[in-house]
Amino acid sequence: MKKFFIVGGAGYIGSHVVKLIGEQIKDAEILVFDNLSNGHKDAVLYGNIIQGDVRNYEELYKAIKKFKPDIVLDFASLIIVPESVEKPLEYYEVNTMGVLNLLKAMRDAGIYKLIFSSTAAVYGNPKKVPIPEDAPLKPINPYGKSKLMAEELIKDASVAYSIQYGILRYFNVAGASPDLKIGDKHNTTSHLIPIVLQTALGIRPKMQIYGTDYPTHDGTAIRDYIHVMDLADIHLKLIDYLFESGKSDIFNCGYGRGFSVKEVINAAKKVVGKDFKVENANRRAGDPPILVADSSKLQKTLNWKPKYNNIETIIEHAYKFMLKNF
Ligand code: UFG
Repeated sequence: MKKFFIVGGAGYIGSHVVKLIGEQIKDAEILVFDNLSNGHKDAVLYGNIIQGDVRNYEELYKAIKKFKPDIVLDFASLIIVPESVEKPLEYYEVNTMGVLNLLKAMRDAGIYKLIFSSTAAVYGNPKKVPIPEDAPLKPINPYGKSKLMAEELIKDASVAYSIQYGILRYFNVAGASPDLKIGDKHNTTSHLIPIVLQTALGIRPKMQIYGTDYPTHDGTAIRDYIHVMDLADIHLKLIDYLFESGKSDIFNCGYGRGFSVKEVINAAKKVVGKDFKVENANRRAGDPPILVADSSKLQKTLNWKPKYNNIETIIEHAYKFMLKNF
């Protein structure tokens, strides 16, 4: 039996990982620790949940000490890039100090395995695309910096206290569980696919394309969109890898191919079967032109094979989940 302490497990990505662990790992015992600021209790389909905050060391320590997990997974983050520019200290408090508290609590409770959710934002404006894990780390916004600092804390703690880690740098996560039990429930979003779908459903009267003069084939920015269920599956593969190999490592999580904003909008029009109003607008501050993962290390080391590598499938699952919760 393995015990999983899942910080931020009631949120969008965390809840999909909880679901997959619950379904696929026999005798898994799950405890979710979440402050429910963006998470939802009813998204936690397996295990128990306690309400707590990563900014509070005592709460974390008590919960970890009592539960004695075999491994900790950390999904608790603030994730909106423009908001991180407006409120940098809040971002460092949750995304960096939260990890400091978590590492302290793990050290003090004698827990030595951690999976951490990082981001493609640590690469900033990459020179080489697809981006390999050893590309220069030059984040261009407080969100990316807060995650990079957390990565550094983890690496130092790994050397000093023998904490074994797996760091996953997520590219653009989208979609929902194909059975539509859980999905993205963020009320306010800045992410492209939910905005496109809200516009298709008439929740928004129109949407804007931020930047049509990028150096790409159609002038709009390119991203590597990964289905949340494929991303969840990476976590399961990483859990096995950490227990079997005893090693620590960092992996990009994407498919290694990109879609432009215009291509995403056209795919959504096809999936939804409706046209909607799209305006051209200026570039959004801090947006790199192209972010595509080199995911060969992930595929090779973890023997991971994507199941939902199709932009229309990703949009369709997100759309059906949105319709169900409309
Ligand atoms: N976009 C629009 N219109 C919108 C919303 C987004 O044109 O209404 C564009 C953005 O400008 C960007 C692309 O669609 O070019 C994707 O934007 P998202 O907000 O969906 O995602 P980001 O690429 O900005 O964010 C992702 C991750 C972050 C990570 C960041 C790194 O979600 O965690 O990449 O830049 F930090």
